Amino acid sequence: MSLRDYLFYEEPSIQLYCGDCREILLLLEDRARLVLTDPPYGIVGGLFWRRSGTALENWDNNPENMQVDDWAGRASTVMLSDAYLAEFCSMQIPHLEATFERHRKAGLIPWTRYLIVKSSPAPCARPIFVSAFEEAIISRKGGPKWQGTRYVPNRWIGQTPNRSHDSWGHPTEKPIEPLQVLVRSLAEVGATVLDPFSGSGTTLEAAKLEHRRAIGIEIEPKYCELTVKRLRQEILPLSLPILAQTENLTLL
Ligand SMILES: C[S@@+](CC[C@H](N)C(=O)[O-])C[C@H]1O[C@@H](n2cnc3c(N)ncnc32)[C@H](O)[C@@H]1O
Repeated sequence: MSLRDYLFYEEPSIQLYCGDCREILLLLEDRARLVLTDPPYGIVGGLFWRRSGTALENWDNNPENMQVDDWAGRASTVMLSDAYLAEFCSMQIPHLEATFERHRKAGLIPWTRYLIVKSSPAPCARPIFVSAFEEAIISRKGGPKWQGTRYVPNRWIGQTPNRSHDSWGHPTEKPIEPLQVLVRSLAEVGATVLDPFSGSGTTLEAAKLEHRRAIGIEIEPKYCELTVKRLRQEILPLSLPILAQTENLTLL
């Protein structure tokens, strides 16, 4: 199959491909300044999640999950010679270690981390530390420039969309503001940002808002459709219609 066969949606600065990123990454010709992504952690199918009643999704319950796959090796071939990879990953130590190893194997140098601190983390079904933050490991290829200002804290504090009930409809959606910070700080205006596991398209929207180009890859057609609606702003985050009903607001 050619790259064109995977193209799901296109606008002047954005392309969304539907399919397995491990195949599509081999076909991409564009080169990214920043790979900003949130691959499946391979934990949703675990006993803890089953007990807590969270719906299982095949992509995260797959034994062939992205913790062990060399997708980063393929992603690094479509990165510019000076570029960043920022990967959100599981907090579990073996998964963190696997992330560092995967980045090093891909020829990248682990550099720093960025935290999303959850102001009101969801409770757990059993006694265990409640997960109050999510972490992106940022690695460098070559010597990319810092594009941010002189004062950018390496954490964002707030609610995740599913907790604050303003999700677009993806079970592991990231808040948009911290992704905007990462885009602004790690890629210059006009540069290409690539997300090989784009889900509901949070990275693509952040890049668009920050005037960067974006390429998304997502295996599930339903999330590709959601991304298109989101980018076209044809739908509103799930809470807004509810708010409008309960508070008798008129949406203009
Ligand atoms: C953790 S979610 C990303 C959520 C995203 N950050 C957001 O804010 O909506 C991971 C996504 O990767 C997709 N995925 C899983 N395996 C994939 C593959 N091999 N190629 C491309 N996408 C894949 C899943 O369908 C899922 O939507």
